[in-house]
Amino acid sequence: TRTSISELITAKMTTTPDFPEPGILFRDLTAVMADGPTLRAVTDALLDEIPADVDAVVGVEARGFLFAAAAAVVRGIGVFPVRKQGKLPGDVLAETYDLEYGTATIELQPNALAAGSRVYVLDDVLATGGTMAAAIRLLERAGYIVAGVGVAIELTALNGRATLSGYPINALLTID
Ligand code: PRP
Repeated sequence: TRTSISELITAKMTTTPDFPEPGILFRDLTAVMADGPTLRAVTDALLDEIPADVDAVVGVEARGFLFAAAAAVVRGIGVFPVRKQGKLPGDVLAETYDLEYGTATIELQPNALAAGSRVYVLDDVLATGGTMAAAIRLLERAGYIVAGVGVAIELTALNGRATLSGYPINALLTID
């Protein structure tokens, strides 16, 4: 059940103050994924909300890669990455978004999968939603249909959900 998934995540998640910058409370899911049964349970809970007609899962750097690959293999569909600037070769699409201080840019190889394909985006944490909103813009510019978004943890105080209106969001654990 959803309650037991949130409890599993809570039990394994670690929280580090002032990382990577002062004032940031960093939620780390490394131990969630390091435990096999927990990884499988989280993957299955993410898959519960991924529509059957989705062609591929998209993982957002870096921890999103792990959940996306796990979900894709279990479902038997493809996976591809949205990466930080400068990591992907060839022609790429780029989107820049605001951080608390400064900006960040993420990129996508637009021809990895045929335009018109249905995709579902996974990441570990939804905070301000800036990263996920930029990932959706990239995917739609590439011609994909974004069927929804899944995250292990949603930090509700940052109201990322408001930046993603219109897209179904599956959050396995919400933290104020
Ligand atoms: C974290 C997290 C999300 C993003 C969420 O990534 O993994 O991708 O921040 O924040 P937002 O909703 O405010 O945009 P981080 O920048 O720590 O990069 P990493 O996963 O590559 O370490």
